Amino acid sequence: MTGQVEIFEVGPRDGLQNEARAIPTGAKVALVDCLSRAGFRRIEVASFVSPKWVPQMADSAEVLAGITRVPGVRYAALAPNLRGFQAALAARADEVAIFASASEGFSRANLNCSIDESLARFAPVAEAARAAGMPLRGYVSCVTDCPFDGAVAPAEVARVVAALREMGCYEVSLGDTIGQGRAATIDAMLRTVLGEMEAARLAGHFHDTAGRALENIEVSLAHGLRVFDAAVGGLGGCPYAPGASGNVASEAVMDWLEARGWTTGLERAVVLEAADMARAMRGAGTRQT
Ligand code: HMG
Ligand code: MG
Repeated sequence: MTGQVEIFEVGPRDGLQNEARAIPTGAKVALVDCLSRAGFRRIEVASFVSPKWVPQMADSAEVLAGITRVPGVRYAALAPNLRGFQAALAARADEVAIFASASEGFSRANLNCSIDESLARFAPVAEAARAAGMPLRGYVSCVTDCPFDGAVAPAEVARVVAALREMGCYEVSLGDTIGQGRAATIDAMLRTVLGEMEAARLAGHFHDTAGRALENIEVSLAHGLRVFDAAVGGLGGCPYAPGASGNVASEAVMDWLEARGWTTGLERAVVLEAADMARAMRGAGTRQT
């Protein structure tokens, strides 16, 4: 298999949100600008969530105001509710993402509500995004394993994917939030989820806790997925997912893909520069959850 694969860079959001030490806004802006130069077409740079829940993302509007926007690059933000959407719109995010969980335990820990309550909360966000003409992306967390509930049934993932599809998400990213997915469980999950949404509209979002992210990307490629979320420098984790370590590193995914004949459209030297910047931002005080 060969062809084009897109790495959706999530380091400035999923990567940095887990850092306990306050990172200066200017350093975040410099990282995003470097990522823009590296050739990423979509970069998640902001999260308009409660600053009490995720203090590191409190300067999201300033980050979006400070970056140098490269034409053709979409700068994305998370929005957990209508208030977050309105803040993302005011800060001129190019697209927003709503984020649900396939497991009740993680939904409660991350959003303080059940899966169905979160979906009800996302409906007005989806409406507002449609009215504003803003692309809406969806996430489903814990697609194989939950830190609270254990194994997650593929049918639960498919149900949430279908709900996000019905709300108008142009793409749904499937999150192995705690990096415990295995080839067999990712394969089983994808077989079921593909009944609800075609591969061209699905993305893989693998945390690399157990070092199996690349293996899981390989399984996903075989099912036709061509978009993978990753974070330069392997930054990341989710403050509400105990045991979640970094996202798979963008530079590792790029090298792994290109060694197998896939093209990513990225400038390798600039990606490595961004990875160095990201690693330097990773404080000694990364939050332990
Ligand atoms: P809550 O406490 O149930 O709701 O939180 P609330 O309405 O009572 O709000 C609590 C406080 O937040 C209030 O302030 C609100 O005004 C404020 P207070 O009255 O206490 O001063 N608030 C907001 N502030 C700013 N922006 C907003 C906003 N909304 C409320 N949009 C809530 C519910 C959803 C707000 C909370 O649970 C939250 O912010 N959760 C976000 C957690 C988060 O960001 N987690 C990380 C991202 S998800 C992830 O990393 C997984 C992913 O990468 C995929 C994967 O790996 O699987 C996407
Ligand atoms: Mg994540």
